[in-house]
Amino acid sequence: MKKIKVVLADDNENIRQSIRGLLELDGEIDVIAEATDGKDVLEKIKTMEPEIVVMDVNMPGIDGIEATEYITLNHPNIYVVMISVDDNIQNFKKAMMAGAKEYLIKPLSPHELNDTVKKVAELGRKNTARNQAEPPGPKVPLKENRIITVFGTKGGVGKSTICANVAVTAAEKGRAGKIAIVDLDIQFGDISVMMNINPRKTISELMQEGENLNRELFEGFLYERYGVNIMPSTNKPELAELVTSHGVHKILEICKDMHEYTFVDTPSFIDDITLTALEMSQVI
Ligand SMILES: Nc1ncnc2c1ncn2[C@@H]1O[C@H](COP(=O)(O)OP(=O)(O)OP(=O)(O)O)[C@@H](O)[C@H]1O
Ligand SMILES: [Mg+2]
Repeated sequence: MKKIKVVLADDNENIRQSIRGLLELDGEIDVIAEATDGKDVLEKIKTMEPEIVVMDVNMPGIDGIEATEYITLNHPNIYVVMISVDDNIQNFKKAMMAGAKEYLIKPLSPHELNDTVKKVAELGRKNTARNQAEPPGPKVPLKENRIITVFGTKGGVGKSTICANVAVTAAEKGRAGKIAIVDLDIQFGDISVMMNINPRKTISELMQEGENLNRELFEGFLYERYGVNIMPSTNKPELAELVTSHGVHKILEICKDMHEYTFVDTPSFIDDITLTALEMSQVI
C-alpha cells in the first residue's frame, strides 16, 4: 500500500524531532515535510500534497487552529491530527470546530500517535475514493418503490374506496403511470366497478400463464384509468381458485418493479394470498 504522507507542524524543534521519530517507527508513514508555524504549514501543503497534517495547537503567528480551519475549507482532502500540551477543553472544542479529525494530548506514545494517523488516513482515503466514484451534480435520493396494502378484518368499511381514491389522487399529483392497484379481493373485488372497467382479462387469466408470467405479459393485463394501472380481480367466481399465493408473489414483484406505488386491495379475511401481500408490503 501507498505510504501515508504526513506534514508535521510544531514550532519547537525538539518536539518536531521527537514526533518525527515516533512517526518514522511506523513503516507505513512517511514524514514528507516539517513546518515551524501556521503560515509555514499552509505554504508547504500547497506543493507537498500530504494526506495528513500533524499539527501543534499553539504556534506563533497563524496558530494550529486557524491553520486547521484554512485547511478544512481549502484542502478538504487533507486531514488534521491536532496535538496539544494540555487538555484545555476550549482548545479542544475550537480544534473540532475548525475541522480537526483527532486531538491528542502530549506526551504521546508511538502506538497512540501512529494508530491515530493511520485511522484518520484510512478515513481520508475512503472519502476520496467515494468522491471519485460519485458523478458530480445534485444528489437525488434513492427512491424505493413501495407496496401499500389496504387491509382490515371488517367488511364494508370502505377499504376498496380508500384504495381507489388514494391511488387516483396520487396519480393526479403528477405520478401518472407510476401508480398501480392490484385487486386481491379475488372473489368479490370491486375495484373494476369503481374504476369503470369491464375487464375481459383478469388476474385469473394471468395465472393461467403459470411460469411464463413476466413483465411483458403482466403489462398486457393492466387497465389504465385516471392515470392508474389496474390489475383487476376475477370476474368469474369459478376461476378464483386459479389464483395462488406463488403467482401473486410474482405479480406483486413485477408490479412493484414498474410502479413507484402499488396499492393492494384485499378481502376482509386472511388467506395465503392476503398474507403474501401483507408480507411484501412496506405499508399496511
Ligand atoms: N367515507 C365513506 N363515506 C360514506 N360511504 C362510504 C365511505 N367509504 C366507503 N363508503 C361506501 O361503503 C361501501 C363499502 O365500501 P368499500 O367497498 O370500499 O368497503 P370495503 O371495506 O372494501 O368492503 P369489503 O369488505 O366488502 O371489500 C360502499 O358502498 C362505499 O361507497
Ligand atoms: Mg373491498
